[in-house]
Amino acid sequence: MSGSALFETFTRAPLAFDHGEGTWLVTDKGERYLDFGGGVAVNSLGHSHPHLVSALTEQAAKVWHVSNLYEIPGQSRLGERLVDATFADKVFFTNSGAEALECAIKTARRYHFVNGHPERFRIISFEGAFHGRTLATIAAGGQYKYLEGFGPKVEGFDQVGFDDIDAAEKAITSETAAILIEPVQGEGGIRPVPTQSLKRLRQLCEQHGLLLIFDEVQCGIGRTGKLFAHEWAGVTPDIMAVAKGIGGGFPMGACLATDEAAVGMTAGVHGTTFGGNPLAMAVGNAVLDVVLEDGFLEDVQRKALLLKQGLAGIADEFPDIIEDIRGTGLMLGLKCAAPNTKVNMALRDQHLLAVPAGDNVLRLLPPLTVTDAEIHEALDRIRAGARGLADAIAAAAAK
Ligand SMILES: Cc1ncc(COP(=O)(O)O)c(C=O)c1O
Repeated sequence: MSGSALFETFTRAPLAFDHGEGTWLVTDKGERYLDFGGGVAVNSLGHSHPHLVSALTEQAAKVWHVSNLYEIPGQSRLGERLVDATFADKVFFTNSGAEALECAIKTARRYHFVNGHPERFRIISFEGAFHGRTLATIAAGGQYKYLEGFGPKVEGFDQVGFDDIDAAEKAITSETAAILIEPVQGEGGIRPVPTQSLKRLRQLCEQHGLLLIFDEVQCGIGRTGKLFAHEWAGVTPDIMAVAKGIGGGFPMGACLATDEAAVGMTAGVHGTTFGGNPLAMAVGNAVLDVVLEDGFLEDVQRKALLLKQGLAGIADEFPDIIEDIRGTGLMLGLKCAAPNTKVNMALRDQHLLAVPAGDNVLRLLPPLTVTDAEIHEALDRIRAGARGLADAIAAAAAK
């Protein structure tokens, strides 16, 4: 017994933050940390962004929640803006990424159901994927560590190797409904899927009458320097799940789909109490105001290059600590040579926050609003952390 009233599901660092300012978090003891974890890719515009704060507080003074029994003008507006900016014709708002994925999975299954193929319900996913923690999304993610002990795995998910498109093709049967993929794997270790592979998946879907679902919960909303990561590949999905950065810290998500893919999602077949409520929509619209400003995403691309080049230099300097730099945009991964948890601690000792991922990777997911000066500061801290860890390892070996 730890004495805590909370479920013991999280291993928390012994840090409590009192407030945040842009890329910085300040503890209850007044210590400042450079936040390159962004609450796991959520704080897309950093902490206390004035435009987000005023959107939220203005809405808070008007109305918080009315339910989806009524018109919600902010919801219609955000839906239209997402439709205008993407492949999609329709949007369903949720509270989280996992719920956006649930909606995506249900949308794909209903599509085949209403087209006279209820037997087509299976979904192909990829090793290393992470799609959330609901019963269906842990089945889609296919990771034993998240499935163990939760009863029979939800039926209908077939997993193939990461980027193994031949295996995906072989896995297609008369029961397959869709292919589900993160264009850049986050949790799996910041692994971008090659453009050619996304193109082949699109072709396979055309050939076999399947729906292509992209999970852009982590890589979407400007994280890679385009509004959505799949834009780099020039391939569009039929359905897409979005969350994290779209709320900038306010819990929200969305499932986007073409008219055709959403054909089965008719009145009453799906729902949510909180999804798309006025508070969330005020923040979502405010995030888009900033991310869609002229030049904003180009600046993300420029800053991402600055960070990546700096990191590559550090990896060259400390090959026993950092093996390689992965990823794209401001979604970068340090493929660690030392255990990623140790590298994470070494950076935390330098008051720089990052997020461990699979495949011994440490994720850097700074706010899209990070400044050049903060990038240089982060690089100095990462270099100092790597040096400290290298020295400690050398000292231990010499004993
Ligand atoms: C790619 C991806 N999909 C889905 C999810 C689940 O999102 P949530 O934790 O908001 O349910 C996550 C969360 O990390 C994610 O990274």
